[in-house]
This record gives sequence, C-alpha cells and structure tokens, in this order.
Amino acid sequence: MPTILAIESSCDETSASVCRDGKILSNFNANQTIHEKYGGVVPELASRAHMQNIVPVMDAALNTAGLGLQSIDAIAFTKAPGLIGSLLVGAEFAKSLSLALNKPLIAVHHMQAHVLANLIEEPRPSFPFLCLTVSGGHTQIVLCESPSSMKILGETLDDAAGEAFDKSAKLIGLPYPGGPLIDKFAQQGNPKRFSFPEPQIPGLNFSFSGLKTAILYFLRDEKAKDPDFIEKNKADICASVQQRIVTILLNKLKKAAEQTGIKDICIAGGVSANSGLRDGLQELCKRKGWNSFIPPFQYCTDNAAMIAITAYYKYLSGDFTDLSVTPTARAEW
Ligand code: KG4
Ligand code: ZN
Repeated sequence: MPTILAIESSCDETSASVCRDGKILSNFNANQTIHEKYGGVVPELASRAHMQNIVPVMDAALNTAGLGLQSIDAIAFTKAPGLIGSLLVGAEFAKSLSLALNKPLIAVHHMQAHVLANLIEEPRPSFPFLCLTVSGGHTQIVLCESPSSMKILGETLDDAAGEAFDKSAKLIGLPYPGGPLIDKFAQQGNPKRFSFPEPQIPGLNFSFSGLKTAILYFLRDEKAKDPDFIEKNKADICASVQQRIVTILLNKLKKAAEQTGIKDICIAGGVSANSGLRDGLQELCKRKGWNSFIPPFQYCTDNAAMIAITAYYKYLSGDFTDLSVTPTARAEW
C-alpha cells in the first residue's frame, strides 16, 4: 500500500498530489495568472512562482489527504520535458524531501504521465491502448503497451495542438491561453461557416503551422473589407477553427486505430478538455465500435495526480532514482 507524494512543476502549474495504493487522495494546483498579460508563459516568472507556491501546494495536498509527511513512502516529481527552471524547482524540492525523509525518489516523464492519467479512474482502458496526447507543448499518438512501455506512432512536425489553439486565439484577439476561450465561443458558432485547409502530412504525423498562416491571411483579408469582421463573426470563426483542429487530430487518430487494430482509444493533455475534441472522439468511437476514454477535466491539464499514478506503477516495479538525477528540458521516452 505505498503512499506517494508527487510534485508537478514542468510549466506554469505548481501541483502536488497524494496517492495511496493507486488511488488519488488529493490533487492540489496553483495556477500562475502572472503570464496572462504577456500572452504566453514567461519561464523566469514561472520558476519564481513555483518557488513561492511549492510549499503551500504540498501542504494543501497533504492536508486534503489527511496525512503528514511521515506517512509518505516515496517522493515523485516531473523530470522532463518542460521549462528547465520550472523543472529544477520541483526536482530539487523533491530531492530535498527524499533526503530529509530518507524515502525513495521516483522521476517521472511528463508526457508518459499525461497518457497514464487515463488509469486514474474507472472505466480504465485495457492494454494495449492508443492515446492522443495533446497539450500546449506536444501532440503525439502514443501506443501504450503497459505502464512502462510506450511508443510514439506519430507527432507534430511544428506547432502543438494547444499552440494551434492559442495562436489562432491570439489572431482572433483573445487573451492567453486562448484554447479554452475558442472552445467557449465555438459552442455558439457554426463550424461549417468558414473552411480552413487540412494539411496533407504523410503517415501519423501532424502539422499546424499552415493552418495558422491560413487563418492569419483569412482574417487580414476579411478585416480589410470590414474592420468589425472578427467581432461580428467571433463564434463562427472560433467554431470553424476548432472544427479544423479537431478533424486534423481525429483523422490521424482514426488512421492509427485502423492500422494497429487497437480498439481502446484515449485522449490526454490540456487540449483533451476541448469539448469539440471530446464530442468528436466519442462520436468516432461509437461509429467504429471502439471504446473511448477521457480523463476527468482536472486530470487533463497539467496536474500532479498523473505524476502520482505513474509513480505508483514505477514504485511497483522498483523503478527508483538516486539523488544525482537532474531534470532535462527535452527527453526521450
Ligand atoms: O497539458 P497542458 O495543461 O499544459 C502543457 O503541458 O502544455 O495544456 C495546455 C494547453 C494550452 O495550449 C491550452 O490553450 C489548451 O491546453 N487547452 C485547451 C482547452 N483547455 C486547455 N484548448 C482547447 N480547448 C480547451 N477547452
Ligand atoms: Zn502537460
């Protein structure tokens, strides 16, 4: 019955979670609003905010779980990938705790954790399953054979899906992060009103940079005819942009499922909070007789519960690390 304290600090969320025997007892996040006025995450400010947040966030996670540090059997943290300054805050904090408490340390890969967020709650997918991991930094189709064995079948060649949402939102004049706002406006809009091109990328890889350019020129031309074009058509523009990003994602996911014959299909990462993607995945799976899995909202965006569940499986297989471990901005799987 291991009890694990997990820390996530790879980008702009400081998060701590306590998990006992694979069950999440608490998951506490401090979101950093400081970046909003800069239109994107400012790495130095993120590191400083993690320094301020990390102790109160850990305390909140322990309090919610009703446990003290003496009950913890292992400390887990996000080792990679992410912003190096942000990762360092979480890693050094976890290493200090491990040393002070004399408890083992578990290093977790952030993208693997996004995939395993699907194992937090019932219903859980069966192995092997496919997972479309879509966040602000990554877009990947992952074949997950076991908690410790994953293969990337396809990934983005340029922007991530979250970036495609955020950059499109910026062109539409929405504040950062614009993904959730596009989702919100899209719900009142007509997705067929404007059509944007689908890139022709071979295999299971993705590309979103062409879409961004297409939106840029489309809005420029329309604004030249009517300066209020965006204001008058915001919902339809958002719905059409969302529809295109979602079809790009789902067409490749469908191809991956057909090629592998795998019928348990998951999504993960911040963009899996998108209502168009969630509805589209469920519709696709229903039509094809596949099973769709979507983690609860709080486990889709960056969170420490996914680090805790990954660490739980690592604990079971004795996959610990020593104090010489250092985080890295990029990392192989
Ligand atoms: O996984 P995540 O929280 O952080 C990273 O590791 O990147 O993902 C954040 C990304 C942002 O680009 C944000 O705009 C996007 O997820 N996102 C959404 C929605 N909620 C978050 N994009 C579209 N629709 C949403 N509802
Ligand atoms: Zn993430």
